[in-house]
Amino acid sequence: MRSRLQIDNLLDGKVASEADGEPGADVVCGLTQIPKTLPPKYFYDDRGSELFEQICELPEYYPTRTEAAILRRYADDIAHLTGPADLVELGSGSSTKTRRLLDAYSQLHNSSNGHLAYLPIDVSGGILEQSAYALLDDYPTLSVRGLVGTYERALDRLPPTSFPTRVILFLGSTIGNLTPNECDEFLDRVSRALNPGEYFLLGVDLRKPKSILEAAYNDSQNITAQFNLNMLSHLNSRFDGNFNLNQFQHCAFFNEKESRIEMHLCSQKAQAAVLKNLDLTVEFAAEETILTEISRKFDLDGMQADLKNKGLSPVRSWTDENHWFGVVLSQKQ
Ligand code: SAH
Ligand code: AVI
Repeated sequence: MRSRLQIDNLLDGKVASEADGEPGADVVCGLTQIPKTLPPKYFYDDRGSELFEQICELPEYYPTRTEAAILRRYADDIAHLTGPADLVELGSGSSTKTRRLLDAYSQLHNSSNGHLAYLPIDVSGGILEQSAYALLDDYPTLSVRGLVGTYERALDRLPPTSFPTRVILFLGSTIGNLTPNECDEFLDRVSRALNPGEYFLLGVDLRKPKSILEAAYNDSQNITAQFNLNMLSHLNSRFDGNFNLNQFQHCAFFNEKESRIEMHLCSQKAQAAVLKNLDLTVEFAAEETILTEISRKFDLDGMQADLKNKGLSPVRSWTDENHWFGVVLSQKQ
């Protein structure tokens, strides 16, 4: 099995924060500005990835099951449109939904006697490794080359492909966690990483009534609250910090103007927290918040226009019957 698995660490033994510059510089920058913010990649230590998996199963959290249903229905069409290809996945997590695509592409590859290669990329090394082993067990001809690191960095150094064509996958509407500027830069990177004729398959969460959106980020079992608070616990262990998780509260709401869910951590009193390794003391006023995540909700036509502007021509898109979630296949010109 080992010969079918390679996992490279772009972090070189360091953690996510150290990959793209000075360790924790993004934390210092976010916590010293007003309003305070933190990058969402800090949700994902082992515990954060585990909590995200629980979120995916929640009755209120419709995105995972809606996208999974679209993929179940259309994975074969997607594979036939692109033909045999290596699959690169950004922010792969547990790769659960990807399995439907791996099924469709395996069939295509088997009929052309080729072996399927899958390249998952994720900052959360534990879940990447765990899911790579599970996939090798379940797909006897699959080879997995994982990259532990940020996709921003990985996109500039993708390994060569074994097939003439590649499909880059970005599922789950993780693109919604990027600000418009970050998204612009990210799509430039994707476009640069692809050769003409190669593909980008993107999952996007679509606009819908506020009540459905807000319920998805305020679940009745408080798993999303734990996921949000876990970011502070991750920072405590990573940077020798003393955030008191009992003194912050999860808050999530839909910002109509920006068409995005905002997740905040709200300080329950005036307090200070120290991150010793970053030589940083952060003062909070009572009720002051840290913006930990935005989750933008898109319009399919707008996203297709953005892709086209980046030289990624939409080939076809698929949605569910409620039009809650969209999957767009585009091709590099
Ligand atoms: N694609 C999966 C998981 C989505 S959760 C799904 O659709 O269910 C977002 C995933 O992206 C997590 O596994 C997280 O660890 C990873 N991630 C978040 N920010 C990242 C970054 N900047 N670079 C690489 N991976 C990142
Ligand atoms: C990974 N990302 C697309 C999720 C989202 O819905 O924005 C993360 C998440 N945050 C709270 N619940 C789920």
